[in-house]
Amino acid sequence: MSEHLTIVEHPLVQHKLTLMREKSTSTASFRQLLREISLLLGYEALKDLPLTEIAIDTPLTEMRAPVLAGKKLALISILRAGNGLLDGILELAPAARVGFVGLYRDEATLKPVQYYCKVPADLADRPVLVVDPMLATGNSSAAAVDLLKERGAHDIRFLCLLAAPEGVERMRQAHPDVRIVTAALDEKLNDKGYIVPGLGDAGDRMFGTK
Ligand code: URA
Repeated sequence: MSEHLTIVEHPLVQHKLTLMREKSTSTASFRQLLREISLLLGYEALKDLPLTEIAIDTPLTEMRAPVLAGKKLALISILRAGNGLLDGILELAPAARVGFVGLYRDEATLKPVQYYCKVPADLADRPVLVVDPMLATGNSSAAAVDLLKERGAHDIRFLCLLAAPEGVERMRQAHPDVRIVTAALDEKLNDKGYIVPGLGDAGDRMFGTK
Protein backbone atom coordinates (compact mmCIF):
# COMPACT_ATOMS: atom_id res chain seq x y z
CA MET A 1 0.00 0.00 0.00
CA SER A 2 1.30 3.48 -0.85
CA GLU A 3 2.47 5.95 1.76
CA HIS A 4 -0.50 8.08 0.81
CA LEU A 5 -2.87 5.63 2.51
CA THR A 6 -2.38 3.89 5.87
CA ILE A 7 -4.87 1.20 6.86
CA VAL A 8 -4.66 0.53 10.59
CA GLU A 9 -4.91 -3.23 10.83
CA HIS A 10 -4.60 -3.47 14.60
CA PRO A 11 -7.03 -6.14 15.91
CA LEU A 12 -8.69 -3.70 18.32
CA VAL A 13 -9.42 -1.29 15.46
CA GLN A 14 -10.80 -4.04 13.26
CA HIS A 15 -12.95 -5.47 16.06
CA LYS A 16 -14.44 -2.09 16.95
CA LEU A 17 -15.07 -1.27 13.29
CA THR A 18 -17.04 -4.49 12.82
CA LEU A 19 -19.25 -3.61 15.79
CA MET A 20 -19.80 -0.16 14.30
CA ARG A 21 -20.75 -1.57 10.91
CA GLU A 22 -23.43 -3.85 12.40
CA LYS A 23 -26.77 -2.11 11.90
CA SER A 24 -28.24 -3.25 15.23
CA THR A 25 -25.49 -1.47 17.22
CA SER A 26 -27.17 1.23 19.34
CA THR A 27 -26.41 4.94 19.10
CA ALA A 28 -24.82 4.84 22.56
CA SER A 29 -22.53 1.94 21.65
CA PHE A 30 -21.69 3.50 18.28
CA ARG A 31 -20.63 6.71 20.00
CA GLN A 32 -18.55 4.89 22.58
CA LEU A 33 -16.85 2.78 19.90
CA LEU A 34 -16.18 5.88 17.80
CA ARG A 35 -14.45 7.51 20.73
CA GLU A 36 -12.33 4.40 21.35
CA ILE A 37 -11.41 3.87 17.71
CA SER A 38 -10.54 7.55 17.24
CA LEU A 39 -7.85 7.19 19.93
CA LEU A 40 -6.28 4.29 18.08
CA LEU A 41 -6.50 5.94 14.64
CA GLY A 42 -5.29 9.25 16.08
CA TYR A 43 -2.26 7.52 17.59
CA GLU A 44 -1.31 6.33 14.09
CA ALA A 45 -2.18 9.59 12.32
CA LEU A 46 -0.03 11.66 14.68
CA LYS A 47 2.99 9.42 14.76
CA ASP A 48 5.05 11.81 12.63
CA LEU A 49 4.62 14.88 14.86
CA PRO A 50 7.99 16.58 15.23
CA LEU A 51 9.86 16.38 18.54
CA THR A 52 12.45 18.56 20.20
CA GLU A 53 14.48 17.99 23.35
CA ILE A 54 14.28 19.91 26.60
CA ALA A 55 16.30 19.70 29.80
CA ILE A 56 14.44 18.23 32.79
CA ASP A 57 15.27 16.94 36.24
CA THR A 58 14.03 13.47 37.13
CA PRO A 59 14.08 12.59 40.86
CA LEU A 60 17.47 10.95 40.15
CA THR A 61 19.30 13.10 37.63
CA GLU A 62 19.22 15.69 34.91
CA MET A 63 18.44 14.59 31.39
CA ARG A 64 17.39 15.84 28.00
CA ALA A 65 14.01 14.41 26.98
CA PRO A 66 11.70 14.73 23.96
CA VAL A 67 8.59 16.90 23.84
CA LEU A 68 6.40 17.97 20.94
CA ALA A 69 8.06 20.74 18.93
CA GLY A 70 6.55 23.95 17.63
CA LYS A 71 3.01 25.21 17.67
CA LYS A 72 0.08 23.12 18.86
CA LEU A 73 -1.74 20.76 16.55
CA ALA A 74 -4.71 22.16 14.62
CA LEU A 75 -7.53 19.63 14.63
CA ILE A 76 -10.10 20.35 11.92
CA SER A 77 -13.52 18.71 11.95
CA ILE A 78 -15.54 18.52 8.76
CA LEU A 79 -19.12 19.13 9.89
CA ARG A 80 -21.09 17.40 11.09
CA ALA A 81 -19.80 13.85 11.36
CA GLY A 82 -16.20 14.92 12.00
CA ASN A 83 -17.32 16.13 15.43
CA GLY A 84 -17.73 12.51 16.54
CA LEU A 85 -13.97 12.06 16.27
CA LEU A 86 -13.00 15.19 18.19
CA ASP A 87 -13.34 13.99 21.78
CA GLY A 88 -11.09 10.97 21.32
CA ILE A 89 -8.37 12.90 19.53
CA LEU A 90 -8.52 15.68 22.13
CA GLU A 91 -7.72 13.09 24.78
CA LEU A 92 -4.50 12.37 22.90
CA ALA A 93 -3.70 16.02 22.15
CA PRO A 94 -5.53 18.06 24.80
CA ALA A 95 -3.85 21.33 23.86
CA ALA A 96 -4.82 21.08 20.18
CA ARG A 97 -6.56 24.06 18.61
CA VAL A 98 -9.85 23.06 17.00
CA GLY A 99 -11.42 24.31 13.79
CA PHE A 100 -14.62 23.52 11.89
CA VAL A 101 -15.34 23.45 8.18
CA GLY A 102 -18.90 23.10 6.86
CA LEU A 103 -19.58 22.24 3.23
CA TYR A 104 -22.74 21.35 1.37
CA ARG A 105 -23.21 20.02 -2.12
CA ASP A 106 -24.70 22.43 -4.65
CA GLU A 107 -27.45 20.42 -6.33
CA ALA A 108 -26.92 22.12 -9.70
CA THR A 109 -23.14 21.92 -9.99
CA LEU A 110 -22.68 18.97 -7.55
CA LYS A 111 -19.65 20.90 -6.23
CA PRO A 112 -19.00 21.45 -2.51
CA VAL A 113 -19.83 24.94 -1.29
CA GLN A 114 -18.47 26.30 1.99
CA TYR A 115 -21.11 27.48 4.49
CA TYR A 116 -18.92 27.66 7.60
CA CYS A 117 -15.24 28.01 8.29
CA LYS A 118 -13.66 28.84 11.62
CA VAL A 119 -10.11 27.58 11.94
CA PRO A 120 -7.11 28.37 14.16
CA ALA A 121 -4.75 31.19 13.21
CA ASP A 122 -1.22 30.44 12.01
CA LEU A 123 -2.14 27.26 10.15
CA ALA A 124 1.12 27.63 8.26
CA ASP A 125 3.04 26.97 11.48
CA ARG A 126 0.98 24.06 12.79
CA PRO A 127 0.65 20.39 12.02
CA VAL A 128 -2.94 19.89 10.88
CA LEU A 129 -5.18 16.84 11.33
CA VAL A 130 -8.44 16.85 9.37
CA VAL A 131 -11.11 14.44 10.64
CA ASP A 132 -14.17 13.09 8.83
CA PRO A 133 -15.37 9.52 9.43
CA MET A 134 -16.32 8.69 5.83
CA LEU A 135 -14.07 9.38 2.83
CA ALA A 136 -16.69 8.70 0.15
CA THR A 137 -16.41 10.69 -3.14
CA GLY A 138 -13.59 12.71 -1.62
CA ASN A 139 -15.09 15.94 -3.01
CA SER A 140 -15.75 17.60 0.34
CA SER A 141 -12.49 16.32 1.82
CA ALA A 142 -10.48 17.67 -1.11
CA ALA A 143 -12.37 20.99 -0.91
CA ALA A 144 -11.72 21.24 2.85
CA VAL A 145 -8.01 20.64 2.31
CA ASP A 146 -8.01 23.26 -0.51
CA LEU A 147 -9.47 25.73 1.92
CA LEU A 148 -6.90 24.93 4.63
CA LYS A 149 -4.04 25.23 2.13
CA GLU A 150 -5.42 28.63 1.02
CA ARG A 151 -5.01 29.64 4.67
CA GLY A 152 -1.40 28.52 4.70
CA ALA A 153 -1.58 24.93 5.98
CA HIS A 154 1.05 22.69 4.41
CA ASP A 155 1.60 19.88 6.94
CA ILE A 156 -1.73 18.07 6.72
CA ARG A 157 -2.98 14.53 7.53
CA PHE A 158 -6.48 13.17 7.07
CA LEU A 159 -8.13 10.72 9.45
CA CYS A 160 -11.25 8.73 8.60
CA LEU A 161 -12.93 5.56 9.73
CA LEU A 162 -13.77 4.18 6.30
CA ALA A 163 -12.57 5.07 2.84
CA ALA A 164 -13.90 4.25 -0.63
CA PRO A 165 -11.41 3.74 -3.49
CA GLU A 166 -13.02 6.69 -5.30
CA GLY A 167 -12.35 9.02 -2.36
CA VAL A 168 -8.76 7.87 -1.92
CA GLU A 169 -8.10 8.41 -5.63
CA ARG A 170 -9.72 11.87 -5.57
CA MET A 171 -7.54 12.88 -2.62
CA ARG A 172 -4.43 11.34 -4.17
CA GLN A 173 -4.93 13.43 -7.29
CA ALA A 174 -5.87 16.65 -5.52
CA HIS A 175 -3.56 16.37 -2.50
CA PRO A 176 -0.83 13.75 -2.92
CA ASP A 177 1.02 15.31 0.04
CA VAL A 178 -1.80 14.50 2.51
CA ARG A 179 -1.46 11.10 4.23
CA ILE A 180 -4.79 9.36 4.81
CA VAL A 181 -5.21 7.14 7.87
CA THR A 182 -8.23 4.84 7.94
CA ALA A 183 -9.49 1.65 9.56
CA ALA A 184 -10.57 0.10 6.24
CA LEU A 185 -10.70 0.59 2.49
CA ASP A 186 -14.13 -0.62 1.41
CA GLU A 187 -15.25 -1.94 -1.93
CA LYS A 188 -17.05 0.93 -3.65
CA LEU A 189 -19.61 3.73 -3.56
CA ASN A 190 -23.22 2.98 -4.44
CA ASP A 191 -25.27 5.25 -6.74
CA LYS A 192 -26.32 7.39 -3.75
CA GLY A 193 -22.72 8.00 -2.73
CA TYR A 194 -22.75 5.62 0.25
CA ILE A 195 -19.73 3.49 1.00
CA VAL A 196 -20.41 -0.25 0.50
CA PRO A 197 -20.38 -2.35 2.64
CA GLY A 198 -19.86 0.71 4.88
CA LEU A 199 -21.77 1.49 8.03
CA GLY A 200 -24.53 3.75 6.73
CA ASP A 201 -24.76 7.46 7.46
CA ALA A 202 -22.08 8.09 10.07
CA GLY A 203 -23.71 11.33 11.27
CA ASP A 204 -27.11 9.71 11.72
CA ARG A 205 -25.59 6.75 13.52
CA MET A 206 -23.56 8.84 15.97
CA PHE A 207 -26.19 11.49 16.63
CA GLY A 208 -29.27 9.21 16.50
CA THR A 209 -30.92 11.18 13.66
CA LYS A 210 -32.52 9.82 10.54
N1 URA B 1 -21.22 9.62 4.38
C1 URA B 1 -21.71 8.71 5.25
O1 URA B 1 -22.08 9.05 6.37
N2 URA B 1 -21.77 7.43 4.87
C2 URA B 1 -21.37 6.99 3.66
O2 URA B 1 -21.44 5.80 3.38
C3 URA B 1 -20.86 7.98 2.76
C4 URA B 1 -20.79 9.27 3.15
